[in-house]
Amino acid sequence: MKLTKTPINFNIVKSKIEKSGIKNIGTASIRELVSLVNEIQKATGEKFIRMEMGVPGLTPPKIGMNAEIKALKAGVAAKYPMIDGVSHLKDEIALFVKNFLNIKVDRKSCIPTVGSMQGAFATFLMVNKLHQKKDTVLFIDPGFPVQKQQLEVLNQKYETFDVYNFRGDTLEEKLISYLEKGNINSIVYSNPNNPSWICFTEKELQIIGKLATKYNVIVVEDLAYFAMDFRKDYSKPGQAPYQPTVANYTDNWILLISSSKSFSNAGQRIGMMVISNALFNRKYESLNAKFGNPLFGYNLIYKVLYSLSSGVTHSAQYGLAAMLKAANSGEFDFVEIIKEYGKRAKIMKKLFVDNGFTIVYDKDEDKVLADGFYFTISYKNMTGSQLLEHLLYYGISAISLEITGSYHTEGLRACVSQTKPAQFKDLENRLQQFNKDFS
Ligand SMILES: Cc1ncc(COP(=O)(O)O)c(C=O)c1O
Repeated sequence: MKLTKTPINFNIVKSKIEKSGIKNIGTASIRELVSLVNEIQKATGEKFIRMEMGVPGLTPPKIGMNAEIKALKAGVAAKYPMIDGVSHLKDEIALFVKNFLNIKVDRKSCIPTVGSMQGAFATFLMVNKLHQKKDTVLFIDPGFPVQKQQLEVLNQKYETFDVYNFRGDTLEEKLISYLEKGNINSIVYSNPNNPSWICFTEKELQIIGKLATKYNVIVVEDLAYFAMDFRKDYSKPGQAPYQPTVANYTDNWILLISSSKSFSNAGQRIGMMVISNALFNRKYESLNAKFGNPLFGYNLIYKVLYSLSSGVTHSAQYGLAAMLKAANSGEFDFVEIIKEYGKRAKIMKKLFVDNGFTIVYDKDEDKVLADGFYFTISYKNMTGSQLLEHLLYYGISAISLEITGSYHTEGLRACVSQTKPAQFKDLENRLQQFNKDFS
């Protein structure tokens, strides 16, 4: 890079990148980038447009906070919580699933986890134990890199493909090419998708569900961005439209519903794992041989979750239960609050496009993509690594698509949550200079 007059002091950025120990910026993890940008900000005194990490940028709802404080004052901290969740939280989760997904599920199949992160980890531990030959997880990518890290930690196998060229009917053939080999135990995807913000259509969910039944695999539907496809209004309890789900098309599902983004509750580390009644009650000979009990749900709770954390922080369960109760009764419109992300995305995407950038993932079949928590960008023929590094000199940080399983094209994932509207002018100025310097 030859330019030296950049919005953020060129020499400081250069030396901080060199000192960071990051060998290839394109494969740096999110947390490595967070630490690098912190260092640059400290040394220059300049504020970045921080788009690398998916942290909620809104204040947590008072309903949850107050319920947690009340529970703490009542002394719940001294007591171990039930592993499968406090009773009224289980009721509210089941009701929430009925109200916002239109899916009926027993309260016993609704289990809090320490974030969806733990829900995924527990799921991976289970699905690997069901059939000897089915030892591989299939990711419909791009995806959340930490789930692959979890499988690496567990020493479990996974396969992946980038869905970019396999939307609509073509998804079926692509999935069959993996499933017919007989080694896949589960299919994982997030919807809306981190990082691309694509949302599967009903046709695509139907294909996934149908094949999951046919090939006897479990769909792990990660709803970390629940109700955040703002093109439709999923905010009214018990009223269509509902958050789309594969649960309409198969019995083989586990839903991971995070509270981190939809309820701005990331710090409390509580999510919901919801398992279809059929799968919860299904018997597996392999589980019987290993644990002395054949039931999927029983082993998930009393063997796997018990081993991981013996339940979820007691007070956090009261906080989430209160928010769900208020959402279920229609008194708390959680979607209205998080719509802010969609508003920010609309403006920020335009600023990038006006300054020579292209939106990488831009359609759901024939529909223009929603504006939400993330969007993806590329610039002319720069690689993701080059773009990421160059943008750091302009005070803009993001992550490379390379680490998310996106093989379609070079580019970056941008998260809108930490960019306040007051920073849009800075973003615009920096992008204008970037485009001038590189065109
Ligand atoms: C797709 C996806 N799944 C899961 C998570 C983790 O959620 P939680 O905070 O509930 O552990 C995230 C967080 O960014 C995510 O993007």
